[in-house]
Amino acid sequence: MKAPFIFGKLALDKNFTNRKSEISRLTLNFISLTNTILVSPRRWGKSSLVVKAAELARKKDKSLRFCFIDLYNVRTEEQFYKLLAKEVLRVTSSKLEELLANAKNFMGQFIPRISLSPESTSDFSLGLDWEEVIKDPDDILNLCEKIANNKKLKIIICIDEFQNISVFSNQMAFQKKLRSNWQKHQNVGYCLYGSKRHMLMDVFTSPSMPFYKFGDLMFLEKISENNWIPFLKKRFADTGKTIDTQNAKYLSQLVECHPYYVQQLAQLTWFRTTKICNENIINEAHENLVLQLSLLFQTRTDELSTTHVNFMRAIINGEKHPSSKYSIETYQMGTSANVIRIKKALIKKEIIDVQNSAYIFLDPVYKYWLEFYYFIS
Ligand SMILES: Nc1ncnc2c1ncn2[C@@H]1O[C@H](COP(=O)(O)OP(=O)(O)OP(=O)(O)O)[C@@H](O)[C@H]1O
Ligand SMILES: [Mg+2]
Repeated sequence: MKAPFIFGKLALDKNFTNRKSEISRLTLNFISLTNTILVSPRRWGKSSLVVKAAELARKKDKSLRFCFIDLYNVRTEEQFYKLLAKEVLRVTSSKLEELLANAKNFMGQFIPRISLSPESTSDFSLGLDWEEVIKDPDDILNLCEKIANNKKLKIIICIDEFQNISVFSNQMAFQKKLRSNWQKHQNVGYCLYGSKRHMLMDVFTSPSMPFYKFGDLMFLEKISENNWIPFLKKRFADTGKTIDTQNAKYLSQLVECHPYYVQQLAQLTWFRTTKICNENIINEAHENLVLQLSLLFQTRTDELSTTHVNFMRAIINGEKHPSSKYSIETYQMGTSANVIRIKKALIKKEIIDVQNSAYIFLDPVYKYWLEFYYFIS
């Protein structure tokens, strides 16, 4: 039987739980063409949420079209414009003839060459003089607005892993170009999301940056224990197995309600459960999860300097003030200026973060591994 949990893929349909308030806020933003910036640490459910809210919004407003652009592998401005133009053309045309006509009519000064992929009818490649596009990308940046306006559509451009624009050369000029065009759009909304909180905060909340006050800034929270419990119970019950409230709570707590890990641990637990789940099974599954990841964690730790590791040890030991004289001496971290540098570096690596002036580990399983495997040995 197929396990009723999923991780590492978008959580959709029955795999998606709760997030009611976030869904309604995002859906309203889509329908009203309000720009949104969505931020959360890795694997907390941004991409799944956006896809889910997009589905609902489309049901409510038939004139909406969604363009999904993932910057995960995009390293240059050229690749960005290519993806954007292609996706806009694709989602605004239902037939090939329409796509060709849109490309011809709305791409301004550029003369596009479209060739179809032999493998798939919905795939095509778009040939443009990209060097010219980069010199003056306005026509590409406004393509969506022109088509939306002409066809009486509303288009939402969803850009995932938005923090990746930081690898583009001349990032600031790029941001300025985007902002100056996008802010004029009346029929297009933008949903920009990603995980590097500090970088994204800098882009969207610094008054000196082009994207300052660009839209509704949403910080996604984890999914609470109270939502995981009924979800886990139902997924077990649907497949003829049982997990009670106590154990469902215990399972979510072991991985601090981290969405990806709750699903992964639930799956490992489900595999080990013949009929009725108990705490021992969950513990076994959890140990197995930690062991599966230990090689990765070891490599991650080996790449850090001794003082970085010492800082993590201080946090794990519950030191609230790692830059105090006491902590610096006990954990041999050099000087207080050094501690500030260590902290910044670990935040940049997305290993720790500061929440409500406390240090937290973003990966609850890594934290567990450090505490019970690495620092003990
Ligand atoms: N609403 C949800 N209900 C149940 N599980 C969820 C939900 N959202 C996320 N998950 C779990 O978390 C995993 C990661 O979700 P998703 O890929 O949407 O997160 P993300 O924040 O976009 O991650 P990344 O930072 O890697 O892009 C999913 O595969 C799923 O296991
Ligand atoms: Mg994602």
